[in-house]
Amino acid sequence: EVQSTLSITVVGASGDLAKKKIFPALFALYYEDCLPENFMIFGYARSKLTDEELRNMISGTLTCRIDKRENCEDKMEQFLKRCFYHSGQYNSEENFAELDMKLKEKEGGKLSNRLFYLSIPPNIFVDVVRCASLKASSANGWTRVIVEKPFGRDSESSAELTRSLKQYLTEDQIFRIDHYLGKELVENLSVLRFSNLVFEPLWSRNYIRNVQLIFSEDFGTEGRGGYFDHYGIIRDIMQNHLLQILALFAMETPVSLDAEDIRNEKVKVLRSMRPLQLEDVIVGQYKGHSKGGKTYQGYTDDTTVPNNSLTPTFAAAALFINNARWDGVPFLMKAGKALHTKRAEIRVQFRHVPGNLFKRNFGTDLDKATNELVLRVQPDEAIYLKINNKVPGLGMRLDRSDLNLLYRARYPREIPDAYERLLLDAIAGERRLFIRSDELDAAWSLFTPLLKDLEDKKIAPELYPYGSRGPVGAHYLAAKYNVRWGDLS
Ligand code: BG6
Repeated sequence: EVQSTLSITVVGASGDLAKKKIFPALFALYYEDCLPENFMIFGYARSKLTDEELRNMISGTLTCRIDKRENCEDKMEQFLKRCFYHSGQYNSEENFAELDMKLKEKEGGKLSNRLFYLSIPPNIFVDVVRCASLKASSANGWTRVIVEKPFGRDSESSAELTRSLKQYLTEDQIFRIDHYLGKELVENLSVLRFSNLVFEPLWSRNYIRNVQLIFSEDFGTEGRGGYFDHYGIIRDIMQNHLLQILALFAMETPVSLDAEDIRNEKVKVLRSMRPLQLEDVIVGQYKGHSKGGKTYQGYTDDTTVPNNSLTPTFAAAALFINNARWDGVPFLMKAGKALHTKRAEIRVQFRHVPGNLFKRNFGTDLDKATNELVLRVQPDEAIYLKINNKVPGLGMRLDRSDLNLLYRARYPREIPDAYERLLLDAIAGERRLFIRSDELDAAWSLFTPLLKDLEDKKIAPELYPYGSRGPVGAHYLAAKYNVRWGDLS
């Protein structure tokens, strides 16, 4: 067996994402024996830290899984011994050359693979890949680069970023993360559709009335106002996380499970959609609110946000796919911060039963009698199907009931974090869950005209109280398409 080494360099090692997600995910992979024998981790950032200081910094963020093995503490120690630090500027060829020397020394002439995670703002992506000369990397195995959104603010700036990155990297080397694709239930979408006979035949305009993609958080932009105000909820959540789920949900059966086959189908869905217009959306922004003796700050009360900001912290949108399968079916998206609950889910509302024999058991509201399939992505992962059932007894009374697959009951083992799966895939060179550049372009084409319109026309967001269910405008938008939000009924 050829001895090889793997180095993972986290550029921007002292940032939030690195501390909260990347190092813990790497440790979890190590803990599960998923990393190769010879691996090492390098932190790279501007702060002057020693290896020991980096280890101290990340040790506080590492946790062991619930099915705790005896040796967790030992494992942590062994893991930390493989972590090193190099301090440098992001635009310094010299500093990256020093890092290269250190890597080479540790690789000791073995076959070397290098993964760089750019956990830094996108405006310095290009500096880093240029200064680190990753295209002509001195590794003798592969060199790959993981980047994460925001990929620009619109079609133009995104295309510009792609162009610049491609000057210094091949498309093969670029792994664009959308961490929602690494979530267990999102991964499961294809399994549910394509390995069960009972769902796929129903998966079209013939049986589905509407599809809802819902994201809500019960906290505001606390501390991230500076970043957020430049992007807003549509760019932060809809254009990527929710749209990716929509593409997986709606795509045709791919030729195989290969990355290219799947991404070809996803991009077709995106290209079959009409770009959004102002009348397809409503936007909102949270305002301060006092509840139970506690005062919650409004979005513009955040000191990092301009007082007159019109940036939406909530949006609801209706999208349509113009193809034979989905013609006329509204795909409704809703995403918001500072709402009453934290949740991400996919809701599929089915059509009415034609000639329903039990009509009179439902009163006048036949909508209440339709089936609904819910995939709760988080928290408390679950898949449930709302069905009508006879209440046991001598009478004939119907009841709405759930066929319920609750993950924590069925699979007591803890579910890996999205970043674990994505890092593992990047190491394996599996691109299925990463965004291809044409997908990114198509995603931006859908939202760019709308975003431009919202900004040019200075559309004022509808204010909603912190911790509420969001602006009522969302109901009117849904009602226009004869839809009721499943999470509110
Ligand atoms: C990020 C957004 O992409 O996703 C954040 O920038 C958001 O605003 C986060 O909070 C939500 O991710 P998760 O995995 O916590 O649902």
